[in-house]
Amino acid sequence: MKSVKKKRKKSLNSNTSSSNYNDLDPAKLPSHVAVIMDGNGRWAKKRLLNRIQGHEKGSKTVRTIVRACREIGISYLTLYAFSTENWQRPQSEVLALMTLLKKFLESEKKEMLDNNIRLYAIGQIERLPENVRQTLHNVMALTKNNNGMTLNLALSYGGRAEIVKMVKEIAIKAKEGRMGPDSITPEIISEHLYTHQMPDPDLLIRTSGEMRISNFLLWQIAYSEIYITDTLWPDFGKDEFVRILKDYQQRERRFGKV
Ligand code: IPE
Ligand code: IPE
Ligand code: MG
Repeated sequence: MKSVKKKRKKSLNSNTSSSNYNDLDPAKLPSHVAVIMDGNGRWAKKRLLNRIQGHEKGSKTVRTIVRACREIGISYLTLYAFSTENWQRPQSEVLALMTLLKKFLESEKKEMLDNNIRLYAIGQIERLPENVRQTLHNVMALTKNNNGMTLNLALSYGGRAEIVKMVKEIAIKAKEGRMGPDSITPEIISEHLYTHQMPDPDLLIRTSGEMRISNFLLWQIAYSEIYITDTLWPDFGKDEFVRILKDYQQRERRFGKV
């Protein structure tokens, strides 16, 4: 008898999981989804594992959600991976996170190339360890012409530091006489932020139930729809992500109008 074992090809276009993308209205998809990926530590603690193991499991969720976004057709996905405040964690945890980031970039490079995903990074990239920066710049350079989706990693990112950077740049231009007070507009401010070539997030998701922004994209989320789920990031998956997108599509975005 012939073997009926089928090779299961992991294709980005296959839609065999229970998450039903077909229920999503393609005309009402968010262009930009931003995620505060929180809860790795609590996930590990619940299982009597160490925090690093939580981060490792969390990086698998990153892969799942990047794939889902690409399949669904979301143009920009910004992931809060490491904040300016996170430098204050124990050195061993910071080092483990940096090592994991490098490993993630190396392992996902091919998938990004195969699936037309551009990698971008926002934050104080200069503060990252040299070897991580090198890998990051390498993958960014390799994928810079991809236009299927932008995966935007917030690394050593802080919203206040970003605003300080923007104000300094504008102050320098003003001092040099290249810009006057009247030329400062919301558009000019946006142009001086890390996110200058992206639309503002339409949807901001935070996992693990914390009702706070934690210094993420302070200017850009002015009119983002917010969704906070109690699910810990390592437990987060495609099905819940699709449910959140459906919830988003039910919302009426009024932008202050009636
Ligand atoms: C998110 O998980 C990952 C980073 C902030 C780098 P946490 O490490 O904050 O997990 P909790 O909040 O302690 O559960
Ligand atoms: C926010 O999570 C930063 C990232 C997800 C990278 P934190 O765990 O650092 O935030 P707080 O401490 O709960 O505000
Ligand atoms: Mg946390």
